[in-house]
Amino acid sequence: MEPYPDDLTHRLVKAASVELSTPPHALLRAMGEFWVKCTAAAGYGPLMEMAGSSLPEFLHNLDDLHARVGVNFPALLPPSFDAEDRDEGKMHLHYHSKRQGLAPMVVGLLEGLGDRFETPVDVEQLACRSEGADHDVFEVRYVSPPPPTEAGSDLP
Ligand code: HEM
Repeated sequence: MEPYPDDLTHRLVKAASVELSTPPHALLRAMGEFWVKCTAAAGYGPLMEMAGSSLPEFLHNLDDLHARVGVNFPALLPPSFDAEDRDEGKMHLHYHSKRQGLAPMVVGLLEGLGDRFETPVDVEQLACRSEGADHDVFEVRYVSPPPPTEAGSDLP
């Protein structure tokens, strides 16, 4: 719950990349997935539950989630996400950040969320800030799981 310099994050990723012979973007993606599936699930379960019970609902609530984190961590420099519903099973997620270089982590975070909601996801980056776009945009295609059937409804 203490801020630390972004340079430390970048140096850690670079060092891990050399040590593990793995490209930085792959490590960031794996960190994002691990964050949702392990760190957040273990350390922030109730906060994660409050943010939604389906992938689209959760993505619409990402800013509220980080605002709640900010109550206990006033130095927070949170990202901002704007989730735009497109066709059935398709969203565009606009990611605004004061930091550089974390877009690959967002891909992993989305994959981890897909796993959490048993919702297969396919993520494609449509616009990259590192290539001059105003902000990063991701297309998230997903397959919602079938709604739970009422207990006993399949009995004669
Ligand atoms: C309970 C769950 C979560 C907690 C407690 C949490 C908390 C945080 C914290 C403390 C930071 C660092 C901000 C700072 O250093 O000032 C952060 C950054 C970030 N979070 Fe979350 N977060 C959660 C879930 C998620 C999820 C599900 C996503 C999915 C998209 C996400 C996306 C990000 C991103 C991309 C950043 C990087 C910051 C930036 O771009 O500036 N977070 N979050």
